[in-house]
Amino acid sequence: MTTVSWNTKELTIGELSERSGVPASALRFYERQGLIHSRRTTGNQRRYHRTTLRVVAFIRASQTVGIPLTVIGEVLSFLPEGATPTREFWLRASECWSRELNSRIERLERMRDLFTDCIGCGCLSFEQCALVNPRDRLGEKGAGPHRLNTASPAS
Ligand code: FES
Repeated sequence: MTTVSWNTKELTIGELSERSGVPASALRFYERQGLIHSRRTTGNQRRYHRTTLRVVAFIRASQTVGIPLTVIGEVLSFLPEGATPTREFWLRASECWSRELNSRIERLERMRDLFTDCIGCGCLSFEQCALVNPRDRLGEKGAGPHRLNTASPAS
């Protein structure tokens, strides 16, 4: 077990991992994605400011409700350089996450309703199955054969 340096303003990656419960590999990944930042010691070891704990808490809370890291990173980029997510920041972000989740739920409910017709069907028909041909894109082109994938074939 790593001993936490409670009196310093910096944490090693092991300390940050222990305090946050996030594996060091995930912390390194967050850093590669630009979500958290560290400085390097002369021995090339990472040192995180203690406030990074709050950033990691924000990331984990957001991930728990299914927010992609790219979106989390976009929101974190609104923070001024060196600032950490405040309670107000989290409240505003969580309201955005709530809207995002409601939108996803609505989309999934629509997909579930479409999927219900497929259960026990198995036709996978371009003409009949709304999942195979969402919004009947081919039907909009009129009767007769049409290519589903309009990308040019490789030459
Ligand atoms: S598989 Fe037949 S309607 Fe979808």
